[in-house]
Amino acid sequence: MIYTNIIGTGSYVPEKMMTNDDLKQFVETNDEWIYSRTGIRERHMVTTEETIDLAEKASILAIEDAKIDVADIDLVIVATVTPDNHFPGVAQLLQSRLNLREVMTFDVNAACSGFLYVMNIADKMIKSGAYNTALIVGAETLTRLTDWRDRNTCVLFGDAAGAMVISKSEHNGIQDVICGSKGDVDDLLICKNVDIKDPLLNAVSQQDHIHMKGSEVFKFATRILPRTVKDLLVRNNIELEDLDYIVAHQANERIIKKAAKDLKFSMDKMFLNIGKYGNTSAASVPLAIDEALKTKYLKKGDKFITVAFGGGLTWGGALIQL
Ligand code: UT7
Repeated sequence: MIYTNIIGTGSYVPEKMMTNDDLKQFVETNDEWIYSRTGIRERHMVTTEETIDLAEKASILAIEDAKIDVADIDLVIVATVTPDNHFPGVAQLLQSRLNLREVMTFDVNAACSGFLYVMNIADKMIKSGAYNTALIVGAETLTRLTDWRDRNTCVLFGDAAGAMVISKSEHNGIQDVICGSKGDVDDLLICKNVDIKDPLLNAVSQQDHIHMKGSEVFKFATRILPRTVKDLLVRNNIELEDLDYIVAHQANERIIKKAAKDLKFSMDKMFLNIGKYGNTSAASVPLAIDEALKTKYLKKGDKFITVAFGGGLTWGGALIQL
């Protein structure tokens, strides 16, 4: 039996920070509304940096943390809905920035669940015996797709990247990963591609922005989050009490609190950092795990579930033993 383990993590947020008060220059809002409805106080956003720049910085830190040679990496997968190009992908850009070997690299689009998707793929590819050491990344610059006139969405998102090196191991670290999706027929969460009306005229309309039916997404999130945790517990024949922590996608503190209440799991054991970063989509989970590890919130020997949901609609969860 081949096991996989997390051997290094890293994360990066751009320098520019925007507080709730700063947002008042764009839309009619206030700190009280944003904080009480979401738990967000501030978020970071790019100025000139692109998604690849954030991905590169987080990856360098994860590789240093893993204490491996870059030549050991034989698989790179990046989760992003904000790639810098149609092609090449962020994963190939990362390959050249990091001087990696000529290995397979690709991007995955599964919105805020993206990091669980890439963890699932890399985990299974290593467990198949075909690969040894994967660099997996969640990197997003959602503020570039944000409509800064729409107070329903512009207060929510931030930019970040999180990276992880996972490797074949004798320790059963990544014990299970599950993912699912269901077509978002009602356009609850959507950002359309550049709309080319007539290719022969080269008539390209403006890039679309993020559109979200917030309360519907809220209902989906509060249903799928506990369900994914319970599915993982049942599949692995363990009880909620066996978990030390849950590290959930940081979309809204109220979603995390509702999930904890429904699961009857203590909020003290639900990791929270949304206040500082907002919703960073596919970067949210690796950023949270990296911060939880670096601040010693998560320690060697801890068992935790990480869980995410997002556009698509998509979801995913992983059971991890450190
Ligand atoms: O990563 C996954 C993707 N996203 C999510 O998980 C988001 C899920 N949804 C949510 O987190 C919440 O639905 C929101 C935070 C987006 C909104 O919270 P809500 O409690 O569902 O508020 P609401 O949309 O029902 O709006 C309530 C009121 C409205 O005013 P009226 O119609 O009651 O007069 C909004 O116009 O709050 C108003 N409002 C605001 N007021 C001040 C909406 N946005 C703002 C704002 N500042 N930024």
